[in-house]
Amino acid sequence: MAPLDVPSAILQRRSIKRFRPDPIPQDLLHELLELTVAAPSSWNLQDWRIVVVEEAEQREALCDACYGQGLVAQAPLVFVFAADPTAWERDLEPIFEKAKASGAWPPKVVEYLQQAVPDFQQNLGDRNREYAIKDAMIAATHLVLAAESRGLASCFLNGWEEDAVKRVIGAGEDSQLCVAVIVPVGLAAESRSNPGRLDLEHNIFRDHLSKPYRR
Ligand SMILES: Cc1cc2nc3c(=O)[nH]c(=O)nc-3n(C[C@H](O)[C@H](O)[C@H](O)COP(=O)(O)O)c2cc1C
Repeated sequence: MAPLDVPSAILQRRSIKRFRPDPIPQDLLHELLELTVAAPSSWNLQDWRIVVVEEAEQREALCDACYGQGLVAQAPLVFVFAADPTAWERDLEPIFEKAKASGAWPPKVVEYLQQAVPDFQQNLGDRNREYAIKDAMIAATHLVLAAESRGLASCFLNGWEEDAVKRVIGAGEDSQLCVAVIVPVGLAAESRSNPGRLDLEHNIFRDHLSKPYRR
């Protein structure tokens, strides 16, 4: 099947709560992962840590950590999008090397960033967590749309207990890793029903919050 184009994937996507058990071929999983990490991130930090949970026992354990939400045990693949707020302390050099090698960031730019990125991140303080989670959420959105375009279904999940999820994926108690979102993926076992959206003028504005968007 030809992949759905982006607008079609966006419009077709729904939060699917029941999945068929059919396994997802490893080549397709690999393609989904390549498309997921094609997502942009702040300073190109790529500070997501994505755990693909495939083993039935692991999915059961994760289901428990998600307040028993059955779709987590049902879907053949469950992606845990974690985020590492300290990634910038370790990952900058390989990021700079790649960007220099591709020519995207000339040496002068890299020289500037070697100073600017740690300064910026240090100043963020507690907000490092928020910034890392933003990046992970953007990557998760890439996954969901890539999966939809390839005929798969998904659901974003906020319903989980963070420490329990961290235990399941093997993050130590004192690990700084935080969980951004969990996304089961597989073939849908229910139809896609659309709960609809508020009218655009409800939450979109032109120039100023006093001017609701109208066409
Ligand atoms: C960040 C996020 C977290 C969500 N968490 C859950 C969840 O824990 N359990 C669930 O059944 N649905 C969850 N949903 C699905 C929403 O209820 C759903 O996206 C919304 O009702 C709109 O439906 P649609 O996705 O089909 O357009 C979540 C969605 C988002 C974006």
